[in-house]
Amino acid sequence: MKLNQVIITGGAGYIGSHTVVELIHAGYEPVIIDNFSNSHPRVLDGLERILNRRPQLFEVDCCDETALNGVFESCLQQGNIAGVIHFAAFKAVGESTAEPLQYFRNNIGSTAALLAVMHRHGVGSFVFSSSCTVYGQPEQIPVDEHAPFLPAESPYGYTKQACERLISDAHFAHSELNVTLLRYFNPIGAHPTGLIGELPLGHPNNLIPFLTQATAGLRDPLTVFGNDYPTADGTCVRDYIHVVDLAKAHVAALNWLQDQHHACEALNLGTGNGSTVLQVIQAFETANNIQVPHAIGPRRPGDVTAIYADAKKAKKLIGWECELSLEEALKDAWNWQKKLGETS
Ligand code: UFG
Repeated sequence: MKLNQVIITGGAGYIGSHTVVELIHAGYEPVIIDNFSNSHPRVLDGLERILNRRPQLFEVDCCDETALNGVFESCLQQGNIAGVIHFAAFKAVGESTAEPLQYFRNNIGSTAALLAVMHRHGVGSFVFSSSCTVYGQPEQIPVDEHAPFLPAESPYGYTKQACERLISDAHFAHSELNVTLLRYFNPIGAHPTGLIGELPLGHPNNLIPFLTQATAGLRDPLTVFGNDYPTADGTCVRDYIHVVDLAKAHVAALNWLQDQHHACEALNLGTGNGSTVLQVIQAFETANNIQVPHAIGPRRPGDVTAIYADAKKAKKLIGWECELSLEEALKDAWNWQKKLGETS
């Protein structure tokens, strides 16, 4: 039987690994490309336990066009390539300020290399992992896809804007290229089995991994970055989306792309609801019946005050919307943290 393959760069990462699971459930054959620069090979063990088989993996750097070409050739011997989902990227805002050249080379270089190899082999469906960071602090919230890009706050944010531009330009030039630019809000949680989840290497920068590690006693109490913002309780507002819902959006986007003839669409992926940092802490405590050690601290430079999605376009165009609640995401995040504690 010919395989209906999907190349998934960064497939051993947080969102990538959850998307591998949903692709297999939808009948696709994921082919992971990952160089483990910000992930761990044991993610493959978790995937194997969920799926009862080990997904195919190529340990390749996505900037290496020759190696990428080899992966495409190998896949094409086994079947067709239904599309490419491009997750692989560096994503730490602070680090990008210290190491801008690495961010530009890796994030933009890999996207250009992938598009070139796709073009060479006539592969037309491309799902790109973008971010709501492209909007900065939008004038209106909820923010929809028409909101203009604001000057990026960090080299990381700029690479997402630049990649969207690069992909749109490639779309205009290459008639076979169909694209979705998926702008994620704040992905949280883990697979309900607790077998895969977020594995931040070193000090976590994002709220939920820090919160779960602090609650597990592995870190100092969580610092709430500022409580003097013009919001309901003074803390910043974000749109937290369960990573399994986010993974399913990639399958919906890929399915939709199969029927398109030269489409390029940006889609917000969020719940449409904003929560403050203190509301998240409260929801975590209620969902898991545990106290979160925390204290109010100063603002974090570069944080936007409030952003959440108008996600109506995704529902209309690709038939996707969130199904899981903030509480379910926070339960799954804690379950994952506890399982990590058992195995480490
Ligand atoms: N926060 C804390 N304490 C922490 C960590 C975070 O109070 O220890 C707060 C932040 O100030 C923010 C909220 O929790 O209000 C969420 O912070 P995250 O770092 O988890 O997420 P961000 O919204 O800052 O970051 C996300 C993506 C980035 C992207 C950025 C753009 O994770 O990839 O949005 O704004 F660049």
